Amino acid sequence: PTHTCQRRALGNPFDRATLQAMRPRVAALASGLLDDLENRLRADGEADFVHTVAEQLPMHTVGDWLGIAPEHFAHILDFTHRQVYAQELLPTKSELAVSAQATLEMRAFFTELIGQRRARPGNDVLTGWIHHWDARYPDDRAAADQVIYDLTMFITIASLETTAVLLANAVWFLTQEPSRVAWLRRHPEHIDDAIEETLRYDPPVHVNSRIAADDTVLAGVPIAKDTTVHVLYGSAAHDPRRNEQPHVFDIRRNGSHLTFGGGAHYCLGAALARLEARELLGQVLERFPTLRPVAPPEYDTSRVVFRRIASLKVTT
Ligand code: HEM
Repeated sequence: PTHTCQRRALGNPFDRATLQAMRPRVAALASGLLDDLENRLRADGEADFVHTVAEQLPMHTVGDWLGIAPEHFAHILDFTHRQVYAQELLPTKSELAVSAQATLEMRAFFTELIGQRRARPGNDVLTGWIHHWDARYPDDRAAADQVIYDLTMFITIASLETTAVLLANAVWFLTQEPSRVAWLRRHPEHIDDAIEETLRYDPPVHVNSRIAADDTVLAGVPIAKDTTVHVLYGSAAHDPRRNEQPHVFDIRRNGSHLTFGGGAHYCLGAALARLEARELLGQVLERFPTLRPVAPPEYDTSRVVFRRIASLKVTT
């Protein structure tokens, strides 16, 4: 019930009209980041696509949306990378300690941000949440603050690394095969299909977990109340019963995936992630026709749940 109440209050923050209004800004952000990439390529001959572009576009987009000043972006990215260990399946004791420290930093940052925004409201989503939850809890500022904190914290964790992995993966899967990228340049109407295939081929979140509220049967398997069920999204997307020849990256496959989850918790930002990918890919194809990887990406191999590509070196 708490989730339903919060989700209803959020509505659909990325409906068609909102996305249309956000599009020019996302395009401009992508263009600016690709200028940075171009400068780095010109200066050094190669550049890290993750550090320069893939991690930056989601941060700038969501930062803009929440009204956060760019000078805080590096700090937010840093504590996000460290915080997500708590969401891993089997975090080590030291990983949990790293995550706990990052959570403290995150709480301090967003608590201060919410306080400042209350003092100086803006024309942004965070200000809207403050108005909404203050009206809902007129006599309980702490309760309002807690919900607003949960929302900012959750959006940050849910949106940054996930979208960064989508963007890096799209460039990696497309540019590792020159004929693939050349075909897509000739058929830009298939950019959305390339994004869907990227989402299927290597989902940014590989595992999601649920706890059975009651005794139930799932696909013929009895599940007792309170049992934890791990859903392997990555594996599901490579099930040949759903997607033929699943290990082939095929832009036109029109396959199916669970990359944004399903049901009551279906990803709130799926449409925004797709918009960022569309705007970025379109520009990459146009501006960097010969972009290619110098080496395969470097993954954070300690992760199972939240995939993280730490680096993807590219050249032209
Ligand atoms: C490629 C990028 C992304 C991927 C792969 C992704 C994936 C997911 C997944 C798997 C879930 C869980 C669904 C479930 O439990 O059934 C989820 C939930 C969520 N995502 Fe995303 N996400 C992405 C981008 C974003 C963005 C850009 C935002 C916001 C700006 C966002 C906000 C959320 C929120 C708020 C939830 C929780 C929804 C709820 O519990 O009701 N996500 N996402």
